[in-house]
Amino acid sequence: MHKQGAIARYRRKMADKQRRRSSESAEVETGLSLHHIDKAHVNHTLFEPSKAVRVESHVSSMEEYRRLYDQSISDPALFWSSIAKQFYWKEPWNDATVHSYNFDRRNGKIFVEWFKGGKTNVCYNVLDHQIKAKGSGDRVAFYWVGNDPAHSRSITYSELLVDVCKFANVLKAQGVKKGDRVAIYMPMVIELVVAMLACARIGAVHSIVFGGFSADSLANRMIDAKSAVLVTADGVYRGSKLIHLKEIADQAVEKCKAKEFSVRRCIVLQSLKKEEVKGEASPAKRRHIGLPWNDSIDVWWADVMETASDECEPEWLDAEDPLFMLYTSGSTGKPKGVLHTNGGYFVYAATTFKYSFDHQPNDVFWCTADIGWITGHTYITYGPMANSATSILFEGVPTYPQCDRFWTICEEYKVTKFYTAPTAIRTLMKFSDESVTKHDLSSLKAIGTVGEPINPEAWHWYYNVVGGKRCSVPDTYWQTETGGHVITPLPGATPMKAGSATLPFFGIQPVLVDKNGIEIEGEAEGYLCLKKPWPGIMRTVYGDHDRFESTYFDLFKGYYFTGDGAFRDRDGYYWITGRADDVINVSGHRIGTAEVESALVEHPSVVEAAVVGRPHEVKTESMYCFVTLKQGAVFDETVIKELKLKVREKIGPFATPDVVQNAPALPKTRSGKIMRRILRKVAQNDRNMGDVSTLADSSVVEELFTNRID
Ligand code: WT7
Repeated sequence: MHKQGAIARYRRKMADKQRRRSSESAEVETGLSLHHIDKAHVNHTLFEPSKAVRVESHVSSMEEYRRLYDQSISDPALFWSSIAKQFYWKEPWNDATVHSYNFDRRNGKIFVEWFKGGKTNVCYNVLDHQIKAKGSGDRVAFYWVGNDPAHSRSITYSELLVDVCKFANVLKAQGVKKGDRVAIYMPMVIELVVAMLACARIGAVHSIVFGGFSADSLANRMIDAKSAVLVTADGVYRGSKLIHLKEIADQAVEKCKAKEFSVRRCIVLQSLKKEEVKGEASPAKRRHIGLPWNDSIDVWWADVMETASDECEPEWLDAEDPLFMLYTSGSTGKPKGVLHTNGGYFVYAATTFKYSFDHQPNDVFWCTADIGWITGHTYITYGPMANSATSILFEGVPTYPQCDRFWTICEEYKVTKFYTAPTAIRTLMKFSDESVTKHDLSSLKAIGTVGEPINPEAWHWYYNVVGGKRCSVPDTYWQTETGGHVITPLPGATPMKAGSATLPFFGIQPVLVDKNGIEIEGEAEGYLCLKKPWPGIMRTVYGDHDRFESTYFDLFKGYYFTGDGAFRDRDGYYWITGRADDVINVSGHRIGTAEVESALVEHPSVVEAAVVGRPHEVKTESMYCFVTLKQGAVFDETVIKELKLKVREKIGPFATPDVVQNAPALPKTRSGKIMRRILRKVAQNDRNMGDVSTLADSSVVEELFTNRID
């Protein structure tokens, strides 16, 4: 009796404690905060696919979509293996275990496997197999369009195969073996595709670093992946700006050396001044451009290719051997090397490309993303090539030499499927509609978007002005980690709503959970998780499986957590509301606020920094930084400049902060956690703070409002 009373008292005490805890915001408990959907944006008007798109499409009705979707969920092994069988497998996978997985940490190690035991080669599948089985040899794989409108070239599948085999042999000659990591830091040129496919052919793991990253970022990625071979180029013009890639690469090699990692070989493509190397130019002559050169490491691409054989037997790899890794930002200061494997990623890339863009044999497909991001990996190289597609590979930027560059190219090449980011759309809609409509864009059938939520206004402009009210708009929601689209309309089937990514792709089971990880049904807002694995999901964080488990599977047990919040409407359509973690999205670039903070605190005058996103008309979010300076340090223009420079140096120019504000003190909980929710309000000049009872010192907030910058 007595004892039971004690237990009851103890239970009450714990429950009280629990209540006190949960009265603090969800932010304090989980480190997450949901952005709420602006209900004014949720318009249920349906935009049906046009008849022209519907009649030729792979999936031409919602009934058909539902039938396939249900199959993919009720028997994923059958669904995905019948697709996988359309590709070339040197040896079949074990039919009894098409896939196996554990998504729940309570059951031990998290893992996902698809087609294990099957032997294949992705490079063979996108080249040799397409050429042999589908007769694609003479098809143009890529129309390359230079930054300078005077530059262009094209390459067929057969020609590409020759170059890929040669470069695969070059890599082998440099000692690159199966499983070795190769860093690639290149402009948007065909040789970038050659380099990645050459890696895939010999089983080397490519680690592509976007050309906008700084020497520090490149070095850190090479050290983390232990990439002893680097492939780069002399430089590239982006718009009118020249970027000296080789110089940045050289600095990165030095930085690696300082951290006791030596880069063995740097293969340098001469990409600049093409007209000067045409014709007779000898390799020696090509060296004229005055690049810094280190004879013990550097070799020219053209020199090593000259003597390489154009035959290269592919390495037959297990479906679960790694294909590539790609770094992406998360909640900590250190980017994660997201690792994808051969079989599952490839099958998923091929399938999502085919259905989300409703690929047809005569299509000219154009994804404007950089190959340095996952979008380029999946929807410039692997997805399109797995379907023998003809794509545009564009080196330049949307507004150079004029604001109608995209539309000029669409018209010239009769692009049928176009894929870009909301940021680009918002930038281009600022110019006159005439800059679009003066071009004949009647070839377009589907115009997709990716990277961030698209606001209804931009959606309508895209649909009406670019798409002439007849194109489908696949708003494709996905992530580096998912390998391919996970929520997207299908062009011939799904009625669209302006601003919604609509419904799940085959094999995807989205769920919304509350902060306790409980599934919420029906019309609701919550944390977006995915139940059950699909072939394209990442397999691990390179070199840190614990981090893979804790980042994606710890918070909500039994689910993969995307990091995003979402609203599901009465029709089951998903509306992504953006990242709920400490990741911000600036112009579709994913930036970890912790990475920026650690760059800022490297400045000798800074003791503490906190970075938040502030809604921005064009860029989705702009980066707003709060810094606390050391006693006696003066906050002035010089410090601001130095801080911005610091971030450019540490991460790259695309991550330059928009605003740096002086914060003599930051808002913290009693346990010392910075309350970012409050900082977001300050950045937005919104005094509607909600519950601030957990704030240790409320006078801090007033001071922040006084110092804020518009
Ligand atoms: C984050 C992933 C994979 C594409 C390029 C970015 C946001 C992506 C959408 C969309 C709303 C989107 C999410 C996601 N995102 N597509 N259609 N609607 N948000 O890849 O760098 O891995 O970033 O981009 O916040 O988590 P990433």
